[in-house]
Amino acid sequence: MPRTHVIGTGSSIPKRILSNKDLESIVDTTDEWIIRRTGIKERRISSKGEKENTTDLATQASLQAMEMAGISPESLDMIVVGTVTPDRQFPSTACMVQKELNAENATAFDVSAGCTGFLYALTVVDNAIQCGTCKTALVVGVDRLSSVINWQDRNTCVLLGDGAGAVVVASTKKKNRILSTHLRSDGTLWELLYSSDGNNHTPKILQSIDIKPFQLSMDGHRLFKKAVACLSSIANQALQHNSLSCKDIELLVPHQANIRIINAMAKNLRISMEKVYTNIHRYGNTSSASIPIALDEANREGLLKKGDHVLLVSFGAGLTWGASILRWSI
Ligand code: ACO
Repeated sequence: MPRTHVIGTGSSIPKRILSNKDLESIVDTTDEWIIRRTGIKERRISSKGEKENTTDLATQASLQAMEMAGISPESLDMIVVGTVTPDRQFPSTACMVQKELNAENATAFDVSAGCTGFLYALTVVDNAIQCGTCKTALVVGVDRLSSVINWQDRNTCVLLGDGAGAVVVASTKKKNRILSTHLRSDGTLWELLYSSDGNNHTPKILQSIDIKPFQLSMDGHRLFKKAVACLSSIANQALQHNSLSCKDIELLVPHQANIRIINAMAKNLRISMEKVYTNIHRYGNTSSASIPIALDEANREGLLKKGDHVLLVSFGAGLTWGASILRWSI
């Protein structure tokens, strides 16, 4: 049976830096509070006129990943994008990226799984490759949560940022490959993190009340505890599935939501923080983009060598969570 290996990584982040100091003039907060409670120092926010919308960021990350992989757009069979902030409700971001890349042979669609979007997209593609329906694919995680943040809510606006990450994967028979993917969801907990209804059932012209803007709501306390528990348990499940222990993992690349969540999970897993990649201080929580950006940076910084075991683990709105173990192949 064919299996999947990663042959290229890429990422793209907006130019504009919004520091904690900048936020002090927007909401009642301090640089000290944000760093102590979250580990975030600054985040990137996309700007109009800078070619930084969801499609632009996804396309730039994809081009980098394709360049590293050394493949042409025509060789892509599939483009799957994890996002909850597409430029338009339809068509999908994946179709827009297909157009930008001239990837005429690809089937393109989005998946929506909150911050776990990238791992959901990777799993779909991994399964398609194992079934033999696809040979070369682009998997993208992209979000611009700045577009759905309530900028008056200090509980959430300090946490989030924009960006995109991408990997090119291909069919392989080699042993350095994706070893497993595990996904979970629990829709009963949707109210812990959601955006207001952007597609009201009643046509606008028939409504007597004003529609509230499309905004994000979060129960940070409950989410924090759930995140630590779900991330730890699914990481253990992935390790057991592959008969691996934490000692076998060379790099853990977690979703970057809060440094305290990452510390607590690493402690539960008994993985030293030296083996955990973090860039949350620079980007905050970039949702679906967080894992592929971190993976691309770790790869380009030379932190990964062929054969290393890499554990990816994520958690987000839905609730959704997931883990994947890769034997590094670049
Ligand atoms: N600046 C200053 N004070 C603040 C801020 C802020 N930005 N935000 C909250 N506070 C205040 C609160 O009002 C509270 O004040 P009070 O004690 O007078 O009531 C105090 O700080 C403590 O607030 P807590 O909510 O207890 O702070 P906590 O340490 O729990 O941190 C946080 C809050 C950062 C939101 C944390 O709960 C968290 O990270 N939760 C998980 C978030 C997450 O994982 N999201 C992931 C998914 S995102 C996605 O999928 C798109």
